[in-house]
Amino acid sequence: MPSLTKSAAWQLLKAHHATVADHHMRELFAADPSRFDEFSVRLDDMLLDYSKNRVTRVTMRLLVALARQQDVESWRDAMFAGQKINRTEDRAVLHTALRNRSNRPIMLAGQDVMPEVNRVLAQMRRFSDAVRSGGWTGYTAKRITDVVNIGIGGSDLGPAMVAGALRPYHQADLRLHFVSNVDGTHIAETVKPLDPESTLFIVASKTFTTQETLTNALSARRWFLETAPGADEAAIARHFVALSTNGAEVAAFGIDTANMFAFWDWVGGRFSMWSAIGLSVAIAIGMDRFEELLAGAHAMDDHFRSAPLDQNMPVILALLGVWYGGFFDAAAHAVLPYDQYLGRLPAYLQQADMESNGKSVSRDNNAVDLQTGPVIFGEPGTNGQHAFYQLIHQGTRLIPCDFIAPCRSHNPLGDHHPKLLSNVLAQTEALMTGKTADEARAELAAGGLDGPAVEALVPHKVFAGNRPTNTILVRQIDPMTLGKLIALYEHKILVQGVIWNVNSFDQWGVELGKQLAKAILPELTGDAPIAGHDSSTAGLIRYVHENL
Ligand code: F6P
Repeated sequence: MPSLTKSAAWQLLKAHHATVADHHMRELFAADPSRFDEFSVRLDDMLLDYSKNRVTRVTMRLLVALARQQDVESWRDAMFAGQKINRTEDRAVLHTALRNRSNRPIMLAGQDVMPEVNRVLAQMRRFSDAVRSGGWTGYTAKRITDVVNIGIGGSDLGPAMVAGALRPYHQADLRLHFVSNVDGTHIAETVKPLDPESTLFIVASKTFTTQETLTNALSARRWFLETAPGADEAAIARHFVALSTNGAEVAAFGIDTANMFAFWDWVGGRFSMWSAIGLSVAIAIGMDRFEELLAGAHAMDDHFRSAPLDQNMPVILALLGVWYGGFFDAAAHAVLPYDQYLGRLPAYLQQADMESNGKSVSRDNNAVDLQTGPVIFGEPGTNGQHAFYQLIHQGTRLIPCDFIAPCRSHNPLGDHHPKLLSNVLAQTEALMTGKTADEARAELAAGGLDGPAVEALVPHKVFAGNRPTNTILVRQIDPMTLGKLIALYEHKILVQGVIWNVNSFDQWGVELGKQLAKAILPELTGDAPIAGHDSSTAGLIRYVHENL
């Protein structure tokens, strides 16, 4: 494929950028009263308002032409059709099959994957129903009260984020916990208050070879055998289940594969929360609700497959990101959920986006010639406003933001929610409009200042504005809406990867650190001599030795 930046569609965008880069959104809004209608899209109760972006009709037309030039539609269809679009791992990318509520056949190597998908969903239903009803008990016949998911990356962030987001739907007498970090503090503090007789551990790992997860699972098992009265190996079967694609490793670890929930190599770790990896969520909210989550994602899948590109929510979000990264040097993107329950969404999207598009080699094995995925960060609610928004408002960098908010709160206390929402709308308005020197001057004068005091402060009180934001509003965060929201971002990531011509579905960049940690571990524990390192790494190992 020819270099993206030299391509016809890119060159047209470059020329266009030179003509619009100085336009202020204030003027664009003033010139076009229908801007909101023109630049907003709805899917059921989900609204995406992207009118507060530095785009015109022409920009959007040229961006859509870029998407066509880069074959976004063919790659999208290839993904849904189960083609092996993850070429470096020779795998299909079929997380959409996990939520294929239409149940239409999806063929992979001549076989429909849906019967297997449905089999595991049925197994999840039986098990989650049993845990919720008390039919599944611990080895002393106590009901399960606490469920600990042990996993990391996609085997942690997905279920942890969804469990948090759907907390209002949790069964009251079941508590979920998530252990991911190999730091022993995480598992130690989590199990401290738990009763082993009523605790269920879910060991979640696609590969079942991940150091952190296996280490934590072994510690959980040790804790269980040491603290559960009279518990022996047989009791383990009532308290440990596995979620994995790797039956052999699950058995080798000592978990009966009868207690294993399978998924498949065509489910990427960061896209796996729709699979058996969602078991902890299904236990918390019930399988009916879990299937509503799948249905929400399926609705977004249908939208992504069928909506014209210029009305297609994931495509629009992707194109805007490409626009800012490619032409405005935007290196970061903020995800700002105004819903406390969505507190882990930024962390979840950090993995989904940065592990997918943090790439510098193209699908045809060449170095890319432009910036790819941005740094994703964010915080829920108004917290960020009192922390990092200063830089977004008045810093030197352009940081596009997504504001996400529900119209209705699950906790309609007094006027909390109108206050929260007023902040969402005020922030996007402030970022767009800014404040001119004249406005700042008038404000200071009205406050009683005059002369040099006013002039000394004016430059600091000016907001340039023209800072781009998307606003995503929904009626309420419920399973269906959440499913749509997550699938929206998944597809945005695919579209961006296709445009940048990178493989969004491998993650070789996580390997080197793992390899080196394996070599350093015996050097730290004194089981191997310190050898083969640079002076910094060797010096740090020696410092640890001196301070053990
Ligand atoms: O960080 C690398 C990674 O492979 C992620 O892609 C994945 O989500 C995580 O590790 C956990 O992997 P597993 O589910 O195989 O334990």
